[in-house]
Amino acid sequence: MSDQLSLLRERMKSSGADAALVTNLTNIAWLTGFTGSSAFVIVTPTDGVFISDSRYAQQAAEQVQNLPVEIYASPVTAAEKVAEEVKRLGAARLHFEAETMTFASLSSFQQKLNGVEMHPVEELVSPLRLVKSESEILRIRDACALADACYQHVLRMIQPGVSELDIAIDIEFFFRRHGAKPAFDVIAVSGERSSRPHGTPSEKKLQPGEFVTLDFGACLNGYNSDLTRTPILGPASDRHREIYEAVLEAQLRALDAMKPGVACKEIDRISRDSLAKHDLAKFFGHGLGHGLGRLVHDYGALNATSKQVLEPGQVWTVEPGVYIQGFGGVRIEDDVLMTDDGIELLTHAPKELTVL
Ligand code: GLY
Ligand code: MN
Repeated sequence: MSDQLSLLRERMKSSGADAALVTNLTNIAWLTGFTGSSAFVIVTPTDGVFISDSRYAQQAAEQVQNLPVEIYASPVTAAEKVAEEVKRLGAARLHFEAETMTFASLSSFQQKLNGVEMHPVEELVSPLRLVKSESEILRIRDACALADACYQHVLRMIQPGVSELDIAIDIEFFFRRHGAKPAFDVIAVSGERSSRPHGTPSEKKLQPGEFVTLDFGACLNGYNSDLTRTPILGPASDRHREIYEAVLEAQLRALDAMKPGVACKEIDRISRDSLAKHDLAKFFGHGLGHGLGRLVHDYGALNATSKQVLEPGQVWTVEPGVYIQGFGGVRIEDDVLMTDDGIELLTHAPKELTVL
């Protein structure tokens, strides 16, 4: 029995459900190791089953070791197969993930599951992913190391005349060449365009005196990294330096405050207060960070409304930014592991002001 299944069973104890139907594919990957695009998992206090269709028969047999695997094929439908397994497991009250189930899917399950009470549960599985296992942490470390290496590799491109798209393609190629893929569409934006926190790389060529925001991550063995650095193509003005140092200070203050037991929203506030001292908080519109793992934006938020509390084993991004339309923007983002007494940085790319 895997640790993940035990954690879910523990959570189910308090809910009165006979069974949980898991439909979120990220949660299924976390529970079973299956990485295909079609699957259902049913878990009971003492039993369970993994279901997929015939396209994944071989892959499921290889990847899923902790549950019996059931495969259906045409003309059997997913709803018919799930219903058959729910009945075989003897479940009368079936809890399902409220966030993933569409109205259409629920209707088709209900048609086949006469007599079974179906009950939506918010955050049935996802919060269990917040604290990572040792093997997950190892994989995140590898993804972070690859992002660090990519940053060193791409710095040679920060030259006048190189386009944002050239840089983005170089980053993507680096990851593919190293057996990974980009964790999300690479962000490479320069000059005034760097005021777009999620800007799309364009044909614009780098020019002297510009911020160049590079935000990218590697997805390696199913786990992600997320790194942002903002070097300057010199010369750097006093305004560039002022903004850069303020963002760095906000990040360092947040990192310093991250200890087990501290509310996530408090860490967000500390970074915002730090920027406010420089009259820059109004240019920081997004949350300070997010959980990181099987998803880049994994479960958990370091923002003003977060309900989470820091705990050892969690992995977070910490990424304050200042974005000034008509001038440009800076973001500095690291990935960190919560330890018993603070944080361990998982990304190590240099972050002192870099003027190239
Ligand atoms: N690193 C950018 C983001 O997390 O949205
Ligand atoms: Mn991020």
